[in-house]
Amino acid sequence: MATITVRRPTFDLDDLPRRWVGGSSLGTWFGNAGHVFIPLGEQFFIDAVRPFRDDLDDPELRRTVAAFIGQEAVHARLHTAVWDQLRAHGVPVELYARLITGFRRVAEAHAPRTLRLATTAALEHYTAAFGRAFLDEDLDGVLPEGMGELLRWHGAEELEHRSVAFDVLAEVDDDLVLRLAGLALGSTLLVVVPGVGVALFAAADLARGRLRPGVRLPNPRLVGMGGRLLIRFGQEIARYVQPSFHPGDDPPPPSYDAWRAAQPA
Ligand SMILES: [Fe+2]
Ligand SMILES: [Fe+2]
Repeated sequence: MATITVRRPTFDLDDLPRRWVGGSSLGTWFGNAGHVFIPLGEQFFIDAVRPFRDDLDDPELRRTVAAFIGQEAVHARLHTAVWDQLRAHGVPVELYARLITGFRRVAEAHAPRTLRLATTAALEHYTAAFGRAFLDEDLDGVLPEGMGELLRWHGAEELEHRSVAFDVLAEVDDDLVLRLAGLALGSTLLVVVPGVGVALFAAADLARGRLRPGVRLPNPRLVGMGGRLLIRFGQEIARYVQPSFHPGDDPPPPSYDAWRAAQPA
């Protein structure tokens, strides 16, 4: 597995354009939703994995859990740093964050901690797939430079720690049914949570009269990226349901090696 390195980079994220994802309203609603649900989700991942750390027999796995927590905490902090700009753009950040937090509270009252861990393992498989996409795709001209750098860094670190939650789950409870229940719940969350954000942010733009009139063709580069991501997700689901699956079986792509080689020593 790739070394899990906790980095503390900085990115130039000032002066984010209001439609910062390829000039697209829809793309930007997704992107803005991501900046809100990603740090909240990462806190959920940390809270799902951390309680099991001291019970793990393998000291190397305990060490990787600590590195996983370190990476996710930095990710959450840098995504949250964009919230002020989103607020200035009129994005209802607090409302969306409160909805997610309220849903989390209700869900945690009913979901046992092993299911939360299984959900985290599944969502970490998806975030690794996002990571491959961010590293493989040409983001230049689609995203502001600093945002592209942020997503490539985040994606690279998702690849580095892609096995951690899965390995903890395997040590705690390796029941395939539990893994698949986590996949079902994680997949549902991956549709519903961004969907609610997009609807909320679209409604906010509509209420402010910010939707441009007329019908426009979607940005073909965004459509291509979205299509390739959906195909990737389909392939990753097919891998994840195999009883013998392990996230480490699929090595990081050459684009990860190139990204890593370009990092300061
Ligand atoms: Fe992350
Ligand atoms: Fe992660």
